Amino acid sequence: MSRILVLFAHPALEKSRVNRELAAAVRDLPGVTFHDLYEVYPEFDIDVRREQNLLVEHDMIVMQHPFFWYSTPAMLKEWQDLVLEHGWAYGSEGKLLHGKQALSVVTTGGREQAYAPEGLNRFTMRQFLAPLEQTFRLCGVEYLPPFVVHGTLGMIGEEIRSHAADYRRLLEAIREDQVDWETVPQHQRLNWSLDDVLRVEGEGV
Ligand SMILES: Cc1cc2nc3c(=O)[nH]c(=O)nc-3n(C[C@H](O)[C@H](O)[C@H](O)COP(=O)(O)O)c2cc1C
Repeated sequence: MSRILVLFAHPALEKSRVNRELAAAVRDLPGVTFHDLYEVYPEFDIDVRREQNLLVEHDMIVMQHPFFWYSTPAMLKEWQDLVLEHGWAYGSEGKLLHGKQALSVVTTGGREQAYAPEGLNRFTMRQFLAPLEQTFRLCGVEYLPPFVVHGTLGMIGEEIRSHAADYRRLLEAIREDQVDWETVPQHQRLNWSLDDVLRVEGEGV
């Protein structure tokens, strides 16, 4: 069984529609530690040892957040800057994260077609997420194709609930190791091809 840590970062949860629903779908799942960074550290006073211990205790690190200015909310950047210490997370002595996996679960106001060379935002999501991908790679962590919910502005409740159900399904499958890991790197978004990515129980055994 894979132990999953969800690092959740939304600075204004009271205004959230999409992340609130996604969070509600996974926060009580057995095997998932749901860690709301803005709730735990309202003054940004991140407890580095506590965060490092949490990382050690889990196999999969999920970063769930809205896309803010083509990046993460400030808390998640602060978390990286403080928690991923040299000699602990990277460097010749820093191997504590080796072999783990990381997944971004991101919501964007912009629509899918805006995240393309010919679109409004000119770059793809993978390109915008490259700093996170390389940060984790440097720490010996495999960075998976992201789970992205595009076009959140004006998204109707039914659609939000469907994305939330996909998110729950994915975390349950990761927990139970029912993921076809060999094909995962081929996908642009984990949630665009969930049925291909998730192995049906018993299949291939
Ligand atoms: C400060 C700020 C910056 C934002 N930057 C972006 C952005 O760079 N790209 C984008 O597609 N949407 C952007 N948005 C829209 C948010 O991503 C969107 O409101 C959010 O994903 C909705 O999720 P929620 O309902 O959980 O708040 C931004 C919103 C705010 C408030």
